[in-house]
Amino acid sequence: MPPDLNIRPEEASDADAVENLYAIAFGPGRFSRTAYRMRDGVPHDPLTSFVAERNGLVIGAIRQTRIRVGEAKAYLLGPLAVAETAAKQGIGRGLLKRSIDAARGTAADAIVLVGDPPFYGPSGFDQVWDAILMPGPVERHRLLCLPLKRMVSGPVSVATW
Ligand SMILES: CC(C)(COP(=O)(O)OP(=O)(O)OC[C@H]1O[C@@H](n2cnc3c(N)ncnc32)[C@H](O)[C@@H]1OP(=O)(O)O)[C@@H](O)C(=O)NCCC(=O)NCCS
Repeated sequence: MPPDLNIRPEEASDADAVENLYAIAFGPGRFSRTAYRMRDGVPHDPLTSFVAERNGLVIGAIRQTRIRVGEAKAYLLGPLAVAETAAKQGIGRGLLKRSIDAARGTAADAIVLVGDPPFYGPSGFDQVWDAILMPGPVERHRLLCLPLKRMVSGPVSVATW
């Protein structure tokens, strides 16, 4: 991790910079994705949402949103994005670790996400195929889960806890 980099909790004043990062990283098609639609209008969780800042600029961000998998408390992780100009310096993995560590201190049983297995696998995420049912289409091989306290399964709903 670069020494001049600061990873800190996302604040309300970061919202525009974070949305801008996500817009560039994921493009306009992001709004039609199931994970994005689930988060639409739902506040992200402040305990597990972080930004990476350098020289006063937000160059990376990660958010998590509270969900339920069946009755179990869980998080939906994402979006995670790092500015292309700052790629491959360990910032993405640094944000991921910080956010997972923060989730371990909550009541969540697990973290669910839709993402690339080679990137998230080393952090402990496994493919869950059809054990977890998202409320919309997802590429099943990209549906991943990290048990924090226990494995979870069942339908996902955006329910606060
Ligand atoms: C994915 C992303 C967050 C990685 O950020 P980063 O700061 O460059 O990541 P790090 O420097 O911590 O790690 C880089 C490593 O991850 C790998 N990696 C990056 N994106 C990857 C992907 N989609 N699938 C597999 N591996 C990936 C790199 O090849 C590199 O591997 P290495 O360490 O063996 O060289 C960033 O590229 C990004 O914002 N991408 C666009 C949005 C996105 O795809 N977000 C994640 C959704 S799955």
